[in-house]
Amino acid sequence: MRADGQGLRRNLSVPPADFTDRSWRERTTERWVYYVVREGIRGTPMPAWKTLSVEQTWDLVAYVLSVAELGPDPRES
Ligand code: HEM
Repeated sequence: MRADGQGLRRNLSVPPADFTDRSWRERTTERWVYYVVREGIRGTPMPAWKTLSVEQTWDLVAYVLSVAELGPDPRES
């Protein structure tokens, strides 16, 4: 997984974010990513992930925010 928004879903009408982009990382916050994962973004293809527990959601937030710093998968670097 590269997490740059250029994978399977790259042709969505509203493009997904590039989590490898450091300027995206600098503009976003933990709270925003948590909110977006839980609630989705209305009017875009970004779905809400209601089945995740609070703890699982925070784990996902930590991963997403780590990508700009460590790369998509630290085991690959
Ligand atoms: C667990 C998996 C996913 C996570 C953690 C995730 C996370 C996020 C986050 C944090 C954003 C906000 C980016 C920003 O602030 O600029 C976002 C936006 C977006 N996501 Fe996801 N997403 C996931 C799955 C998906 C899937 C499956 C789709 C499409 C089918 C999708 C489509 C989008 C799109 C189109 C946006 C951009 C919306 C906009 O900027 O208007 N995401 N996603």
